[in-house]
Amino acid sequence: MNNVKVIYPGTFDPITKGHADIIKRICAIFPHLIIAVAEDTPKTTMFSVLKRVEQVMKEVSLMGLQNRTVEVVPFSGLLVDFVEQQGAHLLIRGLRAASDFEYEFQMSYMNHKIKPSVETFFIPANENSHFISSRFVKELARLGGDIENFVSTHIAKDLYAHFNS
Ligand code: COA
Repeated sequence: MNNVKVIYPGTFDPITKGHADIIKRICAIFPHLIIAVAEDTPKTTMFSVLKRVEQVMKEVSLMGLQNRTVEVVPFSGLLVDFVEQQGAHLLIRGLRAASDFEYEFQMSYMNHKIKPSVETFFIPANENSHFISSRFVKELARLGGDIENFVSTHIAKDLYAHFNS
């Protein structure tokens, strides 16, 4: 896997411990990771793309990933165009439950169809993050619940600040 550059795309609104687990596991295999933070997303985001990039950078810095190149880059437009611009071919996505499969399968199919040089690899979410989702974390924070099991302290602070402003 020497010199293979891979892309981990997402909305990361916000990054959770589930995403962090996938990032660590990607870095255990690949030397160069680009975390692609989507600007154009069908979801209405709570945090701006710049804030999400900043949050992901902070999360990565807390992971202490040695001998690895990890970049955090915002992108807009088609993901496959971004992949090509970065000189990469491989997308990585985390898979949580069977319910993710259909959406992920369709997305990987569409991406490959648009750009046949782009392939998607899937990493199964670990047992602790199987049920985490950014949406539920936001809902929990909105209702004043404890979210520290699901996100890092800096993200929890951003979420509580958002709901208390
Ligand atoms: N553990 C726990 N939860 C996880 C997880 C893991 N390992 N991996 C993902 N999740 C959760 C996230 O918290 C998020 O939850 P939410 O739906 O409640 O917000 C959800 O799974 C998926 O979010 P994320 O990982 O951020 O990805 P996404 O599905 O929002 O990303 C893009 C989609 C950005 C990759 C896609 O919209 C895209 O490529 N857009 C660009 C435009 C384009 O090319 N479109 C054509 C595609 S065919």
